[in-house]
Amino acid sequence: MSTRPNLHLLPQTRQLRALHTAVRDRRAGLDVFVRHSRRIIRLLLEAGLDQLPFAEHDVTTPVGATYRGLRQAVDVCAVAVVRAGESMEAEVRDILPDVRIGKILIQRDKRTKLPHLYYEHLPHDIAGSHVLLLEPMLATGGSANAAIEVLRKAGVREEHIVLIGFIAAPEGVAAVGAAHPGVRIVVSAMEERLNDDAFMVPGIGDFGDRYFGTTHSGA
Ligand code: PRP
Repeated sequence: MSTRPNLHLLPQTRQLRALHTAVRDRRAGLDVFVRHSRRIIRLLLEAGLDQLPFAEHDVTTPVGATYRGLRQAVDVCAVAVVRAGESMEAEVRDILPDVRIGKILIQRDKRTKLPHLYYEHLPHDIAGSHVLLLEPMLATGGSANAAIEVLRKAGVREEHIVLIGFIAAPEGVAAVGAAHPGVRIVVSAMEERLNDDAFMVPGIGDFGDRYFGTTHSGA
């Protein structure tokens, strides 16, 4: 079997590229960055939910006809990789108002770029759930892999994890695919490469800083 991961790249529509143009512009202020990011996050989450199992479900329409439909057939949790992953929580709640949300705090060491796990708090029954893992940035993939390992230790099956990324580098996708081939990855754009600081190029900068307004660079 190839180690190629289960990568689902959103259709690169002109509309999506226009949203990316807004958020990638280094001059984008907090309002512009958050508003356009949220629209992309919404698309990502809808695509992520589409990766989960459905069951047939018929309904009667207002004209008395039968619509042969579908409904989500499994329990779904979300788990945010703090801090950047928390940017996706509001949209998850909009779509799934009663969703249970876990947290995993992972930070990259500023020098080595290696992930360090500080904290985890997951829904007690997560082992039986499908999980949307909210991790916007897949650079080296180290943070995502560390978060997936936390979920695996909690009993979640690899095939039940859908990683919701915002942008990803080929190196990050390959690293997750090699370590956890059963995990599906949904992203809105693939980057060219990593630079020497392990930042993605062309990239978006530090997503957490830009989304939460903690960057000092406004220019
Ligand atoms: C950033 C980003 C990801 C991680 C990706 O987090 O939010 O979690 O790096 O890099 P990797 O794929 O090489 O591990 P950071 O540790 O900077 O913290 P933040 O979420 O607070 O920005």
